[in-house]
Amino acid sequence: MKQVYLDTFGCQMNVADTDRMELILFHSGYRRTLEKEDADLILVNTCSIREKAEQKIFSLFGGLKPLKMANPDLILGLTGCLGQQDGEKLLQRMPYLDFVMGPDQVDGIAQAVDRVRDTGKSFVWTGFDREKAYTIPELPMPKAPGPSTFVNIIKGCDKFCTFCVVPFTRGREKSREPDELYREIRQLVDHGAKEIILLGQNVNSYGKRGLHNPIPFHELLYGVAEIPGVERLRFTTSHPNDFTRDTIRAYRDIGILVNHLHLPVQSGNNEVLKAMRRDHTIEEYRDLLMELKSEVPDIALSTDIIVGFPGETGSAFEDTLKIMQEIGYSSSFMFAYSPRPGTPANELTDSVPEETKKQRLQETIALQNRLTAEQGLSYIGKNVEVLIEGRSSKPGYTFKGRTPQYWNVNIEGREGMKPGDTVSVKVEQVSGHSLNGPLAREANSKSSLHPSGA
Ligand code: SAH
Ligand code: SF4
Ligand code: F3S
Repeated sequence: MKQVYLDTFGCQMNVADTDRMELILFHSGYRRTLEKEDADLILVNTCSIREKAEQKIFSLFGGLKPLKMANPDLILGLTGCLGQQDGEKLLQRMPYLDFVMGPDQVDGIAQAVDRVRDTGKSFVWTGFDREKAYTIPELPMPKAPGPSTFVNIIKGCDKFCTFCVVPFTRGREKSREPDELYREIRQLVDHGAKEIILLGQNVNSYGKRGLHNPIPFHELLYGVAEIPGVERLRFTTSHPNDFTRDTIRAYRDIGILVNHLHLPVQSGNNEVLKAMRRDHTIEEYRDLLMELKSEVPDIALSTDIIVGFPGETGSAFEDTLKIMQEIGYSSSFMFAYSPRPGTPANELTDSVPEETKKQRLQETIALQNRLTAEQGLSYIGKNVEVLIEGRSSKPGYTFKGRTPQYWNVNIEGREGMKPGDTVSVKVEQVSGHSLNGPLAREANSKSSLHPSGA
């Protein structure tokens, strides 16, 4: 068999695309290697969400160039969002590349490789086919899925937040037919998956475009929950404007829908939210989460935050710290604003100095660390329910997994555990967003209707 080396930057969507390319290439005679030096084919699945992501990719390719120079038979491909965004420019900048592809061409990876072999010419293959339905044809799986597995339900994004490249790099929203999803999930469960994470840039928009048999997102949740063997159900990411009361009800009704929601707020200030074109006020966001909290009291909430958006004043930034405190997020992804080519915000003056952005970022990180630590301490001495996902890399611990609220857990002990099991762990120690401790003495518990006793 030939060998392919795959590297992934960016979000879960890109991780899922890399997995898909690995599977397709397996069926055309490639197995994955972790050593680039051994590879016949190297693919870098790229991200362009912030400038830093792009810089990392260019420096990686700087390191790959000598491999290609030493071995002209090596095929070097760049796939993903940067490919869609920059296309030909990338071939000009890195003439040693064999091809550039976008996220919509993932299923054509084997054809792209064949084309390089057949013609020996480099090429760019990007763009979107608006008419084509979103479907992921089934392929035999050479290896079992992990206990926790992502399932793409929707691709693209129609929101056009002014800072964001995703609508340009991933194209218009399109959903997959529910029947295809149910079939895939049944197959994953048959092969050992326990937790299903429904994936998309904006999963709440599911069903609005591209379906013969349209159902809204919350109905999909009820549908997946009925599949025997699905022990936990999650989804990511959500947009506040598409998050419905029906979905709040689903949290209340569906026992296996875990008590965690990632709902990006981006900023706590109404003027900034408006300039970002998030199309909701901070009051609406807060009311939505308060309603959710009152229905599902032990729900953990996490978020994405951008500091230093054009025009963000000191007091606007304080509003962001305020909403973080009010909501009490269990974790946050925090970023300094990075102007992106082709986005509407790129036309605005990037008015907040880099130093100020850095300082604001540090402040949000410090606040989030405090919030995470406070919540972590409240778990000490308590038992948490953990789905074991694999081996722990923390010294002194054997396995790791997650709670329904998405806290990492490192587990002590050797006996009676394997990935895929749900066990009860007694929390003795907290570090960052991880809870650590031994198996609790009580009998192992499966997910109950409300896993953490709400
Ligand atoms: N679809 C998801 C997020 C996609 S990108 C959503 O809408 O929530 C992940 C995060 O990257 C965003 O939520 C945002 O916080 C951040 N991000 C996107 N563009 C950015 C930019 N130009 N500068 C800094 N952060 C950015
Ligand atoms: Fe980007 Fe906004 Fe779409 Fe999220 S909802 S992917 S931030 S445009
Ligand atoms: Fe990056 Fe594309 Fe995801 S820009 S964050 S890989 S959708």
